[in-house]
Amino acid sequence: MKTIITDLGNSTKIAKALARKLGIAYTNTTLSSFPDGDIYLKYNTKLKGNKLIIMQSFQPNSDQSLFDIIFAAETAKDLGAKRVILIAPYLAYMRQDKRFNPGECISSRVMAKLLNNSINKIITIDPHLHRYRSLKDIFKIPTKKLTASTVIAKYLKKNIKNPAIIGPDWESFQWAESIAKQVGCEVTCFKKTRYSSRHVASKMIKPIQIKGKNIIIVDDIISTGHTILEAAKTAKKLGAKSITAICIHGLFMEGAVEKLQKKGIKVISTNTVEHATNKIDVSELISEAL
Ligand code: R5P
Repeated sequence: MKTIITDLGNSTKIAKALARKLGIAYTNTTLSSFPDGDIYLKYNTKLKGNKLIIMQSFQPNSDQSLFDIIFAAETAKDLGAKRVILIAPYLAYMRQDKRFNPGECISSRVMAKLLNNSINKIITIDPHLHRYRSLKDIFKIPTKKLTASTVIAKYLKKNIKNPAIIGPDWESFQWAESIAKQVGCEVTCFKKTRYSSRHVASKMIKPIQIKGKNIIIVDDIISTGHTILEAAKTAKKLGAKSITAICIHGLFMEGAVEKLQKKGIKVISTNTVEHATNKIDVSELISEAL
């Protein structure tokens, strides 16, 4: 059984890098739409009897990405692929892990149900596990969860002197704590109060020395950037020398990067979502996991 890797547009660079690293065949898949908007998908290689790896991050455009993955996986099986493995460097929908208000859709469950039916295994990096303890809470298929904290720590050790790390809220503290341990520096957690998706406030819970330090604010996701902005405001007031925001998944909605840079905050992301701020490569993590 040959292994073939493809992508559906969001993760082309990382799919090609992985193919080169592992010495496996990369094939591009034709994906477009008919004039009425219906999806058009075509494989350009023989899949019968082979294992197909689909590399697709769920950003940009999470709904379209999910839809494309399902069509791609079903078509691969229809064409005789023996196994279809999804590598989703960023897995969307995970923050909607409960019904926060009556009548809401628990999107993470719906996404997992659809993928359970279409693929044989999912590999992802730092999914937003908060109320779920593990991916097994929603997936029936085998899952593998990788973490970018090792490559982020490596980057910090090499590039930032005299750092202290802040997790801007309790959910992000798991990453902040693990990275700080590897770097060997102090870490604290801020308490975030979210009033709406664009209005948050934060304050430090466990005091550490911020004054004169190169502060690294670590979060799994930066979306609108408000969480980072508020944490940075507090860190500045406490005398931070410089502020760098590092995220695993840079979704960067509503001009988040520009908003942060305007306030003097440096923004760095891993390449789970392709973006100009990608400075930390996760392809090594993925190739080790395969
Ligand atoms: C939330 O639970 C996540 O860990 C991030 O803190 C959140 O998604 C960031 O969102 P925003 O950038 O819109 O404040």
